[in-house]
Amino acid sequence: NKMSIIGVPMDLGQSRRGVDMGPSAMRYAGAIEKLQELQIDTYDLGDIPINRPDQNKIENESNLKNLKQVSEGNQKLAEMVDLEIDKGHFPLILGGDHSIAIGSLAGISKHYENLGVIWYDAHGDLNSSETSPSGNIHGMPLAASLGIGNEELTNLYGYAPKIKPENIVIVGARSLDPGEKELIREKGIKVFTMHEIDQMGMSKVMQETIDYLKERTDGIHLSLDLDGLDPSEAPGVGTPVLGGMTYRESHLAMEMLAEADILTSAEFVEVNPILDDKNKTATVAVGLMGSLFGEKLK
Ligand code: ARG
Ligand code: MN
Ligand code: MN
Ligand code: MN
Repeated sequence: NKMSIIGVPMDLGQSRRGVDMGPSAMRYAGAIEKLQELQIDTYDLGDIPINRPDQNKIENESNLKNLKQVSEGNQKLAEMVDLEIDKGHFPLILGGDHSIAIGSLAGISKHYENLGVIWYDAHGDLNSSETSPSGNIHGMPLAASLGIGNEELTNLYGYAPKIKPENIVIVGARSLDPGEKELIREKGIKVFTMHEIDQMGMSKVMQETIDYLKERTDGIHLSLDLDGLDPSEAPGVGTPVLGGMTYRESHLAMEMLAEADILTSAEFVEVNPILDDKNKTATVAVGLMGSLFGEKLK
């Protein structure tokens, strides 16, 4: 079991600076040491270079903020992820804002007929340039991967779509924009909102998620946005939403995924150490990685 760590210091997919330091914050919190403790053969490939936008040039052909830099960074990420999977390594991507899921999925999905995605998040990230209230690309990666939105994003790495709506499960949603709700209905995307988590319990939610994806996919990517957790436990995020998943619920979810042994790639995104409380959020992220990669099983 070999794992490749890829840092993506991207903060251009949203409006609050600092989330580009997420990979450093998670490394500082002991991500690599944690994986090594679990006897995983870990290769830290460092960070992908992300270009800053030219401040003297106002590039405003669309309402997508920093479109050029976001798509360039994602292109590099897709190439790198693809290569690591070619080598047989498990890619673990450290963000960066959630716009980087466009590149992760572009690199991963080349290798699967029916890639499944668990989107652990307060948000759906199902906006396009037409429905986005913010113009922030971190609110669009799931839509872009479905082939919806600006072609520079949907066709990243030369193919579209990356995933099918029936292969997605969103867990923890509690802030969905009107256009996102419409898309969820239209495409029949499976969503466990906080309402279902409260009512069914996390154990049943994750069991259903695992059973649902296991029978229809040939690989499963976990895209974990730290804002899926409650801001009291993960304060270092740019778009916090009250009423989130607890620390314990999140560990249970990771432990169940470890036990099911179904993941083929993962990413942890939206850790912003500038907004954090003494690197608490990165520390939580590293703890979750421990559970996800089998701490309780060893
Ligand atoms: N729905 C909002 C938007 O599109 C917020 C998205 C937040 N996304 C995230 N990955 N934190 O702007
Ligand atoms: Mn390949
Ligand atoms: Mn989110
Ligand atoms: Mn997100």
